[in-house]
Amino acid sequence: MKALTATADDRLITLAEITDPAPAAGEAVIEVEAFSVNRGDYFALAGVYGTEVVPGHVPGQDVAGRIITAAADGTGPAVGTRVVAHAAGGGWAEQVAVATDAITALPQQLPATIAATLPLAGLTALRLLRRAGAVAGKRLLVTGASGGVGHLVVELAIAAGAIVTAVAATRERGQRLADYGAEVLTDIDAATDRFDIVLESVGGDTFAAALRHLAPGGTVVWFGQASRQPVQLDFFDLFGATPFTLHHFPHWVADTTDAEDLAELVRLAAAGIIHPEVGRIADWTETATVLTDLVHRRIRGNAVLTLA
Ligand SMILES: NC(=O)c1ccc[n+]([C@@H]2O[C@H](COP(=O)([O-])OP(=O)(O)OC[C@H]3O[C@@H](n4cnc5c(N)ncnc54)[C@H](OP(=O)(O)O)[C@@H]3O)[C@@H](O)[C@H]2O)c1
Repeated sequence: MKALTATADDRLITLAEITDPAPAAGEAVIEVEAFSVNRGDYFALAGVYGTEVVPGHVPGQDVAGRIITAAADGTGPAVGTRVVAHAAGGGWAEQVAVATDAITALPQQLPATIAATLPLAGLTALRLLRRAGAVAGKRLLVTGASGGVGHLVVELAIAAGAIVTAVAATRERGQRLADYGAEVLTDIDAATDRFDIVLESVGGDTFAAALRHLAPGGTVVWFGQASRQPVQLDFFDLFGATPFTLHHFPHWVADTTDAEDLAELVRLAAAGIIHPEVGRIADWTETATVLTDLVHRRIRGNAVLTLA
């Protein structure tokens, strides 16, 4: 089969012929129809995380498609079922083997190009809100809100009753967030309110700027560093918000399986309660260009690649 494999050079990835997946007993094989790419995928391929980039490795977590081999242990969907899945890797390929506790069936009305946005971005958004606690009636600030996670978490938070302020680089990048009902700022310091909860994923100066607008006793959920600039904090700047609670957030620490949370996201998308923002749909041979555009903030929301 064909797959996109890591190159460990400036090309990031290349289309290659590799062997078909060999599923373990608890894995099903999915014929991939569409996949989504994330900022973190670029960071991994560019070696930003400090881990070695292994040439030939097939990246890819967020896939939608159809089951072509059911799991040998009898778990998971039957052959022919349309599904969305959060793969442990290998998803940028014609076929991928995925553990059945990370696969959820799709209703007919949800296209693969929408479903593919739900795994990493959606699971992160859903679990971020759980970590933040009860948000109804709370003032919530979301930084880096024009991205894949940002669009989903803003919509979910508003649906849960939060009063959301979203930070985006421009009005255009924040337009869908405004349509959802968020106040959109292009500069945190323009905020006239204090926030009960901050969801921060930009890093650099943004973290400290968000803290300056935190209400005393507020909560910060720290889940990324899109700018790649480390956070700088001055203890003496924080007295206004003190005492506050800081959660360091990894999406993979959860009491639920990916399949359970994907089922919830699929239900919300199918019911029209969330509307994933797909800023780019392209053929999967254009994945390297799309990744670069995503990282340079030229794509709003998620980017989805399709296979013929
Ligand atoms: N902790 C976890 O488990 C977890 C899971 C998934 C993702 N993440 C992290 O969460 C963040 C959001 O992920 P994502 O997939 O939604 O990414 P994304 O689609 O690329 O969105 C990131 C957003 O950050 C904003 N941003 C602000 N300043 C930036 C800067 N200096 N450089 C680059 N971007 C900047 C951009 O919006 P504007 O251009 O409008 O400012 C961009 O839309 C990333 O940092 C990602 O690594 C963490």
